[in-house]
Amino acid sequence: MSHVHRFPARITGEDGAPQFYYGADYNPEQWPREVWDEDITLMQRAGVNVVALGIFSWARLQPTADTWDFEWLDDIMDRLHAGGIRVDLATATASPPPWLTTAHPEILPVRRDGVILSQGGRQHWRPTSPVFREHALALVTALAERYKDHPALIAWHINNELGCHNAWDFSDDAARAFRLWLQDRYGDLDTLNKAWGTAFWSQHYSDFDQIIPPRLTPAEGNPTQLLDFRRFSSDALRDYLRAENEILARISPDIARTSNYMVTGDTPEMDYASWMGDVEFLSNDHYLLPTPDAIEELSFSAARCGSLAAYKPWWLMEHSTSAVNWRSVNPPKRPGEMARDALTHVAHGADAVCFFQWRQSIAGSERFHAAMVPHAGADSRLFRDVVSLGEALTTLAPVVGSTLLPAQVAVVLDYESWWATDQPFLPSTLLDHHEQALAWYTALLDTGVRVDVVGPNDDLAAYKVVVAPLLHVVPAALAERITDAVHAGTHFVTTFFSGIVDEEAHVLAGGHPGAFRDLLGVRVEEFHPLRAGQSVTLDDDATGTLWCEPLDLDEGTETLRSYADGPFEGKAAATRAWRGEGSAVYVSTHMDWWYLAALASEIVSAAGAWADIDMPTPGSVITTIRRGADADYLFLIPRSPEADVEVGELEGILYGPTTPTITGTDVVVLRREHDV
Ligand code: GAL
Repeated sequence: MSHVHRFPARITGEDGAPQFYYGADYNPEQWPREVWDEDITLMQRAGVNVVALGIFSWARLQPTADTWDFEWLDDIMDRLHAGGIRVDLATATASPPPWLTTAHPEILPVRRDGVILSQGGRQHWRPTSPVFREHALALVTALAERYKDHPALIAWHINNELGCHNAWDFSDDAARAFRLWLQDRYGDLDTLNKAWGTAFWSQHYSDFDQIIPPRLTPAEGNPTQLLDFRRFSSDALRDYLRAENEILARISPDIARTSNYMVTGDTPEMDYASWMGDVEFLSNDHYLLPTPDAIEELSFSAARCGSLAAYKPWWLMEHSTSAVNWRSVNPPKRPGEMARDALTHVAHGADAVCFFQWRQSIAGSERFHAAMVPHAGADSRLFRDVVSLGEALTTLAPVVGSTLLPAQVAVVLDYESWWATDQPFLPSTLLDHHEQALAWYTALLDTGVRVDVVGPNDDLAAYKVVVAPLLHVVPAALAERITDAVHAGTHFVTTFFSGIVDEEAHVLAGGHPGAFRDLLGVRVEEFHPLRAGQSVTLDDDATGTLWCEPLDLDEGTETLRSYADGPFEGKAAATRAWRGEGSAVYVSTHMDWWYLAALASEIVSAAGAWADIDMPTPGSVITTIRRGADADYLFLIPRSPEADVEVGELEGILYGPTTPTITGTDVVVLRREHDV
């Protein structure tokens, strides 16, 4: 379950009021000490009050197996403290030094095809390696003991982006750990054989030692094995997180602990809902995707952080001031976009705005990644924007500590369904769980309402509308909770290829979608996935892609949309069944966005959900509300950087332009006295 146990010590301004944390990853080990003094002066100028320090400094801290060098870290910690800058100190375990990998190549991760990944990059370690763990934990212990009482220290930063580059390891260490994980999950081989359906293709196991991770096979592997390996891999990283966490909790119990997660559309590997008990506060890294719905994806990710943090404040640990360097082409952000992105995270509950990284490197793999201080130096548009963002955060200081107000409408992101539909040997390999969740999120934003992003184990009954697209894996308990929520008044929406399998990835037979047949009042005998480029038309002119299917409707099930052509012309394409106080809607194809938004709007109004502010063009801005002790803060975030947005005469503007029209990157924050 989601909870935040403890937040780092608050940083206060001159008036004694809490401020946003503002800063970056700081890598002073890349620079001579003369630069450090300039760094601190510039940090002060920008309003930077915190840095994440030492993330990739293992080789510097422990140059050989038997030598340690903390002098430089002592020095910079002291200088930062003297400069009024707090430290989120990394355990520095993300990138093992060459002396370690040379002495112990058995810590290196192994790919599915057996290729060993070498040193020379970073994160070249097996999450399950006992040898890696021994060395890494010695480093964590040394750092915790040395710095636990340092006055600059406000947080521990465990490893860095656990699972970035090394989430899946197929080594012998992984095989051993996988077997133990399976023994724990299934107890005995009989249960495992049944769960994995090993009667198929002669895969019966007669000893746990015969089981290996899903390495490269001549024919595609077992679907339950594949799903379990993804569950195991996420758990193995969490287990490693726990190992570092325990040391810090023992040696340095007074300092709050975090680990920067990657809740983002291009990182499906880790199921963070199950990691929330393993950090004291949530922090997240987010990099804008180069897609037309980039701002919606950012907002989706931030909204998921909001619900993971139980609507309490969290940290944005990394994002980029401008360009990244790791895509094939890396354009800069346009003026205004940096602040818009940062404040979108704030809108969803972030109390820290941090970047990768403080000063742009001149050597190493990330030379061409933007930073707060660019290659051009402080005399640059980018640095001036960094200073302005610091000023904006000061204006917004009253928002600090406020909680995110849950919405009436939620979209479900389910990692198990994401994993189970990201496999070969399915009716279609074109399906993408995250993409579907994001498409519905975007359509719901078009209606003007606030939208939460939740996991399947969250309290779904708390919402008027719950949209769970491509919710493929549905354990009986989840189906029951959803059914109960509907009867109690929730309007539930799901789509094609949902409710098809249980947690063992076994198909629920008797007509699809097995888990929701009664709830939805529909039955499907055979799927009809559409090839790339193929489409069907619905009676409202919507284009349907990816999927269609013949729906047989129970008595009382209403048709919302029908197929106007294609193999099921005249048959229902979207339906609604009323159950108790609520209803269950089924959509059997992927509708293009304008029509999806129209359908979303019908569903939202039937459920009685409303927008918190009337905009001349509903849906032109994303809205969120943060609730403070005596006021609500309503954030308005334009969705299209190129287009101006008419917002009309707004009252109570705490931040942003006061004109009735704002540009596509202006964020407006309104202060409203509580009406509760
Ligand atoms: C993150 C990582 C940082 C930096 C950044 C660049 O994945 O934590 O160290 O590499 O990406 O975008």
